[in-house]
Amino acid sequence: AGKAEPQPLEVNGAVGGVALLNPRSPQDPSEYSQIHWRWENKVTIAIRKRGQKPRYPQSSFEGRLELFENHTLKMRDLSIRDSSEFHLYLEDDTGRESVQTVRLRVYDLVPKPRVGATTSGDAQHCNATLSCSVALKGVTYEWIPPQKVPRNRDPVVNVSFNPAVETYVCRVSNPVSSNNASLTYRPPCSWTGPSSVTCATPSALVALGHLVLLFLLLAVA
Ligand SMILES: *[C@@H]1O[C@H](CO)[C@@H](O)[C@H](O)[C@H]1NC(C)=O
Ligand SMILES: *[C@@H]1O[C@H](CO)[C@@H](O)[C@H](O)[C@H]1NC(C)=O
Ligand SMILES: *[C@@H]1O[C@H](CO)[C@@H](O)[C@H](O)[C@H]1NC(C)=O
Ligand SMILES: *[C@@H]1O[C@H](CO)[C@@H](O)[C@H](O)[C@H]1NC(C)=O
Repeated sequence: AGKAEPQPLEVNGAVGGVALLNPRSPQDPSEYSQIHWRWENKVTIAIRKRGQKPRYPQSSFEGRLELFENHTLKMRDLSIRDSSEFHLYLEDDTGRESVQTVRLRVYDLVPKPRVGATTSGDAQHCNATLSCSVALKGVTYEWIPPQKVPRNRDPVVNVSFNPAVETYVCRVSNPVSSNNASLTYRPPCSWTGPSSVTCATPSALVALGHLVLLFLLLAVA
């Protein structure tokens, strides 16, 4: 019989990387006669009996696991399919068992975003819509405007306005990584991308995906 337990611990990992599934609190290995880790509460993937070496029964995790003395289970070569719940079963000398749950989430590394700009307007009022996309779900997008005023404690700040060449960065992140791409604005109304390719026309923008994140109104005097 297991004890009731609080919220499972959460662990994030990146595809191809390593995750450490830690027990909830520091463990005294001598306290338990045997412990094992189970995947989705079904398949036993690592076992250690007191005083013995760990064993790793056949499973899709075999060859990628290392069970430490402190009951931490190290898993490497992570893949998206490894995202699941793992349970640590601790059995003491009286046969009493306690269970802890760790939820592993494996994420892809964020690829380089694709950015594009569509402009409307003229030299007096250059309106632009900047778009940014990656072929990956569960990411957050952020547009970082140019740093206009340098950060310092000086009471005097010198700024120059013209000609204003300004770079906007789109940063895309998930819990394990981030990536970015930039667009540079040049007066009166042009935008260039990362490889100095002139940016998308409206029809090409459709192919970029439908994530329009920022609507910029640039009034150029
Ligand atoms: C357990 O030991 C391993 C290897 O020494 C270490 O990497 C890991 O952080 C330890 N876990 C905890 C919860 O201290
Ligand atoms: C630019 O955007 C402003 C505000 O949405 C709009 O009033 C104006 O007509 C736009 N100009 C052009 C040329 O599209
Ligand atoms: C600002 O410009 C003035 C005149 O060119 C110069 O003397 C001063 O050192 C500058 N200040 C800063 C903080 O760069
Ligand atoms: C963009 O990515 C580069 C590495 O590719 C990094 O050095 C830089 O700090 C990132 N910029 C932002 C604003 O996240």
